[in-house]
Formats: sequence, structure tokens, C-alpha cells
Amino acid sequence: MAILIGENNVFLLNTKNGSYSFCVDQEGLLRHLYWGSRIDAIEDFKNEPFVWEQGFHSIYDVKREECSSFGTMRFKETSFKVAYADGTRDFRYRYVKHTIENDELTVLLEDTAFPLQMYLHYKVHEDVDIIEKRRTVKNCGNEVVSVERLHSGECSLPGAGWNLKNFNGMWNSDFDAYEQKIMGGKTVLESLRGATGHVANPSFILYQNAGETYGEVYYGALAWSGNFKIVLEQTPYAYLNILAGINDTDFEWRLTAGATLETPALYLGYSPDGFDRMSNAMAEFSRRYVMPQPMADQPLSVLYNSWEATYFDVNEQAQLQLIEKAAQIGVELFVMDDGWFGQRHNDHAGLGDWHVNAAKFPNGLAPLTQKLQSYGMQFGLWIEPEMVNRDSDLYRAHPDWIYHYASRPVMEGRYQYMLDLTRRDVQQYLIGEIDRLLTENDISYIKWDMNRGMSEVASALLDRSESKSIWYRHTKAFYHIIQSLKALHPKVEWEACASGGGRVDYGAMHYFDEFWPSDNTDPLDRLSIQEGYSYLYPIKYMRAWVTDSGSNGKRAMPLLFRLHGSMCGALGIGLNLNERTEEEMELLKKYVSLYKEIRPMIQFGQLHRLASLPVDGVQAVQYENGKESVLFAFLDHPSRWRTVFSVRPRGLDAKTCYRVEIEGQLQQKYSGAFLMNSGLPISLNHDYASCMVRLLPES
Ligand code: DGJ
Repeated sequence: MAILIGENNVFLLNTKNGSYSFCVDQEGLLRHLYWGSRIDAIEDFKNEPFVWEQGFHSIYDVKREECSSFGTMRFKETSFKVAYADGTRDFRYRYVKHTIENDELTVLLEDTAFPLQMYLHYKVHEDVDIIEKRRTVKNCGNEVVSVERLHSGECSLPGAGWNLKNFNGMWNSDFDAYEQKIMGGKTVLESLRGATGHVANPSFILYQNAGETYGEVYYGALAWSGNFKIVLEQTPYAYLNILAGINDTDFEWRLTAGATLETPALYLGYSPDGFDRMSNAMAEFSRRYVMPQPMADQPLSVLYNSWEATYFDVNEQAQLQLIEKAAQIGVELFVMDDGWFGQRHNDHAGLGDWHVNAAKFPNGLAPLTQKLQSYGMQFGLWIEPEMVNRDSDLYRAHPDWIYHYASRPVMEGRYQYMLDLTRRDVQQYLIGEIDRLLTENDISYIKWDMNRGMSEVASALLDRSESKSIWYRHTKAFYHIIQSLKALHPKVEWEACASGGGRVDYGAMHYFDEFWPSDNTDPLDRLSIQEGYSYLYPIKYMRAWVTDSGSNGKRAMPLLFRLHGSMCGALGIGLNLNERTEEEMELLKKYVSLYKEIRPMIQFGQLHRLASLPVDGVQAVQYENGKESVLFAFLDHPSRWRTVFSVRPRGLDAKTCYRVEIEGQLQQKYSGAFLMNSGLPISLNHDYASCMVRLLPES
């Protein structure tokens, strides 16, 4: 049973490998008891009174809590802050009751003096070791209540000395995995851009002594694409408190009579043996519970994207040529990126005017879609719906449709403003325009981009008292728009992009079918970006293009190295195919076809990070489906010792004999036991060398 309730008011939530426990204590408050390896005996969790002498330190700071609230002798970061109409600014609650339905435990708390309720939801995804936390606050009174902070969940880990792994980057340097020891005080991961951003990801990984295949790992990810905040507070009371949710900076939600406010979900996971299990559990969880259908179960197509080939210089002739070449190498979906609409000749103009530029495409998009149909290929388009350029018909017609203060000029980011998505008319305009595009043209795929953060966050239509709710409303409106479009066009596939990986989060995953993880397509940089991404996000969602190298300021690297790197994700091609030699086209064709063969293993299989360049001198990653495996290895440059490597694949059957094929050539046969223990010898001996190895069981 996933949810157990003890007689002594103890709650025990069990997943395959883990347990999470809390109780109602002697004061009627929720006290955290345990998070870790699975324990079945609920009677072992004794709900003994928590004793603490009054003094300088408050009992509420010393106790590990499930729902701390500001103001009530709590001096730590708290998970809830509220202001009642009479000026009272704390939530002094008592446990009221709980219910269980469909593996979800809901605990009701109520303020002892005001008609305010808080529902704590715990959904147990037993099969994938995830506990999903959410909260709902309900105003049962007649007066408005201001919610000034509301985290999705609170939990804690005992002791001190925890290591944090997160992904900390910037544009073009996404998913830089970094590790730090959490010392005293607060460590905060957050975004204040109105979207996820590149600087920190809305997720965390905590451990004391763990590696890929050993050690306990605790992790969490927020399903939110707006301002978020994760606070890890090392208290002096021998525990690390963890809070995660909507960012409370410039946040206020006025809860009117009878209204509710629900937080985004926080997914909490536990792995008893390292990061490998964590990543695979998260990928499985994503597939089963987050990814939208029908795409969740379908492999992603090999796509072509025009961005790096033609940038803004798109036109019928050039795109037709690219389509022809893309068809030759086996591409299945052709995506025309930025530049096709309005007066979009560079990034200074056109955003908001979602009409095909008649000078570039005098016959509309039909020549492209017809040609693609004749090849049995699909068509996709780039859009950036939340934005408008000053130089656009939309802005000239509706200067009021952007976030702005009446008192000041609005700042531009990438020469663009942000549309006020809290307005109904703006939402309707966007839904109408994109619906029209999708209805008039044969479009199977949309890449939804977002290239600036929010500023001057005020709306011409919202009352001033509501201004601080705009950040939250924007994210909700973004979800509403895409959800409406998906209802109108259920077969269309959607890619989330925000200057690369600025919108990689579990909130967006509920609506989108894939992510663009970075604008940086340098194949070597990409290896570490992909590695960082893979810790908590599924490979199926990781678009990876092969692009030109040796031009546009890019390092030159062999095409094979670039191909291998991109085959580690959802393969895409971003090369200027018009400039490729015949041999290069042949190589592309060969590897696109090979990719299609191994695609189910890459996109749906188990992932094992076998070696990482900065640590091991070689990068190696394996994908397996329980039977066979494919493995890619990469070397940046050889040095005295860096030419022959031994990597140890995982998940093989010890007794089975495997045929080891390196790039299609039979090399050797080894038992699973030998490969997993002694290792597979790989030799890479030149700059930017790489290879693909298949491990095929002998029948
Ligand atoms: C940023 C994206 O990340 C790129 O892939 C490309 O679509 C450009 N925007 C287009 O402006």
C-alpha cells in the first residue's frame, strides 16, 4: 500500500524504494519524521511529543515541519505568508482531517482564528519513486486575504554537510552542472525573469556521498515555468530545510471570498543508489505522468531546422532547396525557423505580425508544404507568441498591449517587448492568429520561442492592487494559450524553447513535446550541456542538431563527431545542406538511417552516463532496452594516456554473450559479466574522435 495511516496520527507514504513520513504532533501541527529508504513498519514511527524548553530558540525552528508559516515564532524561511484584512499576518493552523483518493493523501489544515484553509496534497507515484506535493489555499470568509508567499512543498533532510547539484548557466552555456556543499544559512535557486531562465533550473539534487551507481540521492523538480524559488536552509538545528515553489519576490495574490489558489506541483524523488537510477526514474515518471499524449509514446522525428543555415534570410527558393536536400538524407520533419513573417529581416522588427511575408513567400507556404507532402515529410514553423517588436504592425495598433508603467519608457530586450498576457484580448489575438496559421497551412509542428525576460510588470487593465499577481498570471496565461491551441489542433507537436534551454522545466513538459536545450551547438560544449540536462530531464525531450562547424566563429570538428553527439538525443539537422559535399551527404544519410534504427533505444531506453570528459578524460554514454545497447564515446584530444579507455556498460545480462560492433564492424564477443566488470576497451586517438558501439546479444 502506498499510503499508510497509523493510529498515532502518523502518515507513511511508500514508493518502490523510498518512504516519506510525517505526523500530527501534540499541538495539531504537521511534523516531518522521515524521508529515505523504504520502511514498511509504520509502528516504528513513534509520534512522541516534541519537547523543547522555551528560550532564545523557538520550538518551531527546531522542529522539522511540513507547513511552516511566517510570523508564528518562526525565524527560518517559511513556506506560507498571509495577510488578513485586520492586519494579522500569520497562519496559525491546526490539523483538521485527511482524505485518501487514488493514491493521493490530502491533509486539511485550518487557521484557528480566521476562515482560511490549506490543503496539502501528497500524490504517491509508487512505481517511479516520486511523491508529488501541491497545496491549495481556500478563503472561506468574506474578506479578501492576501497571500504573499505560498510554496508548493516543504521537506527536510537530517544533519548537515549536504551536497547540492544544480544547473547554473547563462545563454549559450545552459545546464552547467555544478556542485557545492551547503554550509550554514540559505542557498537560493531562483528565477525572477517571469520564465524559468538559464541561471538556475527549478530543481535540486542533494546527496552526501553518491555517484552514478551508489549512494542516497534526494531530488526535486517544480512543475512551473515562471518565477520560482528553491530555498535550502541549513539550520543550526541539525537539519536542512527545503522549500520550493512560486517566487515570493513581487508576489501577492488577493484571495477573494470563496476563492482558492493552487500551487504548481513539486515532484520529490529518492534514489537509494545514485544518480543513474534517479535520471531513469525521472525519465520514466515524465513518460508515464507528465508528457502529453499522443506524443509521449511516439518517437520524435528526425527534424531539419533552418536557423543556423539561413538565419533570417528565409525565402521560398532557399527553403525549397533545403527541403530537397533534407529529403535526400532521410529527414522526416522540416522546420522553418525565424524570419518568415511580417517585416522580419532581422531581430529588430516583425514579432507580433504572424503573417507570411509576401516578398519572401509570394505563393504563401503552400509550395513548401506541397513539396514536403510529396516527400512524405512534415512541416513545422517557429513563433515567439509572447513578444512584439516596436517596429511591428501589432505594436503600432496596440501600444497598450505590453507590460508597462505609464510613467516610464519600457526597456527592450533583444529589441522586443513583452505582451501583456493577462489581458483577454491579447490571449484571444494570439490564440486566433496561431489557430489561423495552423488551419490555413499544413503544419505539424510549432517551435515556441521566448527570448527576453519580463520587466515593468504592470498591465493597463489590471487594478494596481493586482500588479504583484502578474508574474503568476503570465505563466498561467501562457499555459492557457497553449492548452487552447492544443485543444483546437490536437495532432500538432510543440517544442519549448527560450533562447535555448530557458524553459526546460516540468511545467512546460505538461504542454510541450520536446525542449530545445541550448542555442550552443558546438559539439564539444554540447556534450556537457547534454550531460547536465540528462540528470533530471528525459532524453526523449532533448533536441540535438548537427550544425556547421569551422565557420561563423565555430570550432571545426569532424562531421562524425557532430553526428554522434546529436544522436545521443532527438536527432536534428541544422546544417546548411546546400553547402555539403557529396561524401558529407552520404555520411548524413547513413547516420540518419542508423539513428532511426536505434531511436527507440535512445528515446525510450535506460540511460547510463559511463564517463564524463572533465573527470574521466573521455565522455561515454550508453542507452539500453534491457536486451541490447548502443554506446557513444567521445574524446576532445589525445594526450599521453588518453587514447585507450575502458568503459563499463551497465544493465547487461552477466551470462549473455554480446557481439560488440564498433560502427557496424564486428570487433569481439564478450560476456555481459566481462563487459560490466572488466570493461569494454575503446581506442580513440585523434582530436575530436568519437565512436558508436552496439552491444548485441547472441541468440
Ligand atoms: C532563439 C532560439 O533558441 C534559436 O534556436 C532560434 O530559434 C532563434 N531564437 C530565432 O530567433
